Amino acid sequence: MKKTVLITGASGGIGKELADRFAKDGNNMVLVARSEAKLIELAKGYRERYGVHVKVLAKDLTLPGVAEEIYDELKNEEIDVDYLVNNAGFGLYGSFLETDLDQEMNMIDVNIKALTIMTKLFLPDMIKQRQGGVMNVASVAAFYPGPLMAVYFATKAYVLSFTEALENELTGTGVTVTALCPGPTATGFVDRSGVRSSKLYQSGVMEVGMVADEAYRDLLRGKTLIIPGAIHRFITSLPRFLPRKIMTGQIRARTEHVGR
Ligand SMILES: NC(=O)c1ccc[n+]([C@@H]2O[C@H](COP(=O)([O-])OP(=O)(O)OC[C@H]3O[C@@H](n4cnc5c(N)ncnc54)[C@H](OP(=O)(O)O)[C@@H]3O)[C@@H](O)[C@H]2O)c1
Repeated sequence: MKKTVLITGASGGIGKELADRFAKDGNNMVLVARSEAKLIELAKGYRERYGVHVKVLAKDLTLPGVAEEIYDELKNEEIDVDYLVNNAGFGLYGSFLETDLDQEMNMIDVNIKALTIMTKLFLPDMIKQRQGGVMNVASVAAFYPGPLMAVYFATKAYVLSFTEALENELTGTGVTVTALCPGPTATGFVDRSGVRSSKLYQSGVMEVGMVADEAYRDLLRGKTLIIPGAIHRFITSLPRFLPRKIMTGQIRARTEHVGR
């Protein structure tokens, strides 16, 4: 049966690639991001190519009350969401002493607050239907502290912890909860976050289509934790063996700018 999926941050990067895959399989979509023109263009393509229903919601998830607005708008139109993909997010590179607090608060609003409220609002309807799923996009950054991106790594640790706990609570409800933890991936994130010249991103990034292929396949299988790429599965296992301070130092060595 065809489903309805709501994807935040669907205007580009991982969110757009996931939208491509859901649409190709004939699912209906609700696309959320700030870039309305990009969403309208995408929606037009999906309708023409796959004959699916697509609703575009141009929303800024940093604003208070926006998640509630999205939920109410869909309720009024009797659109039931089967899959919620909380993908919108961004990072900020730099020493915490020098980074901009307003941007960091906006990051917490999108990466943590909006994700939590969206989950709170959409989950009860899925539970009633005893089907569906939530996928929260975390990161390999969720597994360790990240000097030079301290707030971003911490937001992703929240997402992973929250998602795994929720998965445990929802066992037996018929609803799946999934954390997607990509490593460095070639998307708009790289320039927006200012990480391009860090060793982390200079030493190789994953192609976004490969991330989306693994994510889409394993989300439909109801997997709890998806870490695309064998190398990233290995790296995220290291905190189990290394003392935390050494691990943090290792990450610092990778987040430094090339040449340092
Ligand atoms: N790329 C990586 O290396 C990487 C690695 C691990 C995890 N991730 C995570 O993957 C997720 C997707 O990022 P991406 O790599 O695909 O980056 P991206 O290409 O920059 O996409 C980010 C998406 O989030 C949306 N967004 C950002 N701020 C928003 C806001 N205030 N309100 C609504 N939408 C907003 C953007 O749309 P608009 O600008 O149109 O609003 C865009 O669609 C993020 O949660 C990111 O933290 C990325």
